Amino acid sequence: MKVLVTGGAGFIASHLVDALVARGDDVVAIDSLATGDRGNVNPGARFTQLDIRDVAAAKLIRAERPDAISHHAAQMSVSRSVREPLFDADVNIIGSLKLLQPAAEAGSRFVFASTGGALYGEAPMPTPETAPTWPVSPYGISKLAFEHYLFGFRAQHGLSYAALRYANVYGPRQNPHGEAGVVAIFARRLLAGEECVINGDGTDSRDYVHVADVVDANLKAIDSEACGHFNVGTGRQTSTNTIFELLAQTLAPGAAARHGPPRPGDLKASALDSSLMRKTFDWEPRMALEAGLKETAEWFLRPAPGTPAP
Ligand SMILES: NC(=O)c1ccc[n+]([C@@H]2O[C@H](COP(=O)([O-])OP(=O)(O)OC[C@H]3O[C@@H](n4cnc5c(N)ncnc54)[C@H](O)[C@@H]3O)[C@@H](O)[C@H]2O)c1
Repeated sequence: MKVLVTGGAGFIASHLVDALVARGDDVVAIDSLATGDRGNVNPGARFTQLDIRDVAAAKLIRAERPDAISHHAAQMSVSRSVREPLFDADVNIIGSLKLLQPAAEAGSRFVFASTGGALYGEAPMPTPETAPTWPVSPYGISKLAFEHYLFGFRAQHGLSYAALRYANVYGPRQNPHGEAGVVAIFARRLLAGEECVINGDGTDSRDYVHVADVVDANLKAIDSEACGHFNVGTGRQTSTNTIFELLAQTLAPGAAARHGPPRPGDLKASALDSSLMRKTFDWEPRMALEAGLKETAEWFLRPAPGTPAP
């Protein structure tokens, strides 16, 4: 199978590229390297540094005619989307549309990395896909807008697609320098002996899903013809305090976090109901949080590339 992966040098998609290469697929990866790292890309994939908004990206799809496209490239900072909504829409809506048109022409299956956390507001938990979607951030709005384009392209052009609405994804290779991704941020700071700041009293909770489970969800969605919008999470809520304590156990026993003011607009809690994903794709999250956090902490502990062995 030939699969084109956008954002292939980023956190989640680089793991997906690894899995696709491992099973013998022909993998074409593109990434602008805006936040991604070339070193994340599996040498078994064919990599091109390319912005999805560049006409060359559409040309590549027309030339390669992949069986499936996994679309992960995005402006993925919620706070940047609030500061720069035009930039967010340019990458996440216009850039994505520039791929969708040639994908529909090529008959490629389209699997889209959407968000669960930024789509639903305060809703019953765990939240199913049928909950109202009224995102408040431009990031959530652009992800939802593109989901609507997918739905429309199915009606107009027979596009085969799945939009996967991720919960909070964590694991090795997550960028610790952004404003999101609390696991990576705490891990880096704990290792550097820097103070970790928890916004508010730390009882806010999120649904943390390990990147290996997200990759598995993508493989199942790529291999299927089932269409629609699917939550990808564990349904379990974990507080920020618990995340900090579990990471500190491995990385800096005894370390304490400082509590700062709560961040305006942050949800008190979120967790996704992934029953539809289970029913449709026979997908189940397998990684227990404690084991996943330990593995992630150990990855952050690894020697920097190029460091001589002791
Ligand atoms: N990490 C999460 O918890 C989470 C949750 C929900 C949804 N998502 C979505 O999953 C996808 C991957 O997220 P991630 O956590 O791996 O982030 P990431 O930043 O590591 O990956 C995104 C990749 O896209 C690339 N990119 C950005 N703009 C580009 C452009 N214009 N053209 C080409 N490449 C571009 C970046 O260089 C980066 O490598 C994103 O679409 C994100 O919105 C992530």
